[in-house]
Amino acid sequence: MNIVIAGGHGKIALRLARLLADRGDTVLSLIRNPDHAGDVRAAGAGPIVCDLEKETAGRVAEELAGADAVVFAAGAGPGSGTARKDTVDRGASVLLADAAERAGVRRFVQISSMGAGSPPRAGTDEVWAAYVKAKGEAEDDLRARDLDWLILRPGRLTDDPGTGRVELRDGETGRGDVTRDDTAAVIAALLAAPAVNHRTLELIGGDVPVADAVAALT
Ligand SMILES: NC(=O)c1ccc[n+]([C@@H]2O[C@H](COP(=O)([O-])OP(=O)(O)OC[C@H]3O[C@@H](n4cnc5c(N)ncnc54)[C@H](OP(=O)(O)O)[C@@H]3O)[C@@H](O)[C@H]2O)c1
Repeated sequence: MNIVIAGGHGKIALRLARLLADRGDTVLSLIRNPDHAGDVRAAGAGPIVCDLEKETAGRVAEELAGADAVVFAAGAGPGSGTARKDTVDRGASVLLADAAERAGVRRFVQISSMGAGSPPRAGTDEVWAAYVKAKGEAEDDLRARDLDWLILRPGRLTDDPGTGRVELRDGETGRGDVTRDDTAAVIAALLAAPAVNHRTLELIGGDVPVADAVAALT
């Protein structure tokens, strides 16, 4: 498969690129900082400098031409304020989905977050509230499109080594942690399961081998 990962220098994105390249897929990674190109190449992917807060959908569509699937793995990240939750976590996903439609790339996997779209609890800080709002709006945008979309909502991400075992549900898992290794492995397995579409999946660490967890969705 030919796969494009947006936010290609992210922690999940680099792990995913390695897994996909190792199994023989061709990966292009959209990054905003040219200094990250070496890390992306080391992961087995081809870097393309493309800032999703600055480019047009037409320009991004050119980069998606010929892809079988696109993965939205970007995020404004910790330390960013409310404005970039909107321009990256919502806006960049919308731009990428526009570009996918223009390029005729039907399969779109979005990394969202547990809690996306839920009303923030009283006393929640404004940046977290902006984050879950932006993720919720990005999900709603994707669900309204004529694409083969898939939304993955991980719980709290950790950099612990992956276990290869998860809890993956079309519905609620409840709160929990999940490693970035296991999240990348789940996305790689989902990309190889094209019949799994139009689902909003929640993911935390668990007992089920990744391949079985994805097979159970089909
Ligand atoms: N942290 C958690 O516990 C948690 C839980 C659930 C879901 N998530 C979500 O999971 C996703 C991936 O997580 P992660 O830990 O892999 O994220 P990450 O390491 O922060 O990676 C996000 C990537 O997005 C890139 N990016 C930011 N703005 C961009 C732009 N304008 N154009 C192109 N790329 C841009 C960043 O580039 P730079 O390197 O140049 O900044 C970064 O490489 C994120 O959407 C995050 O919100 C996180």
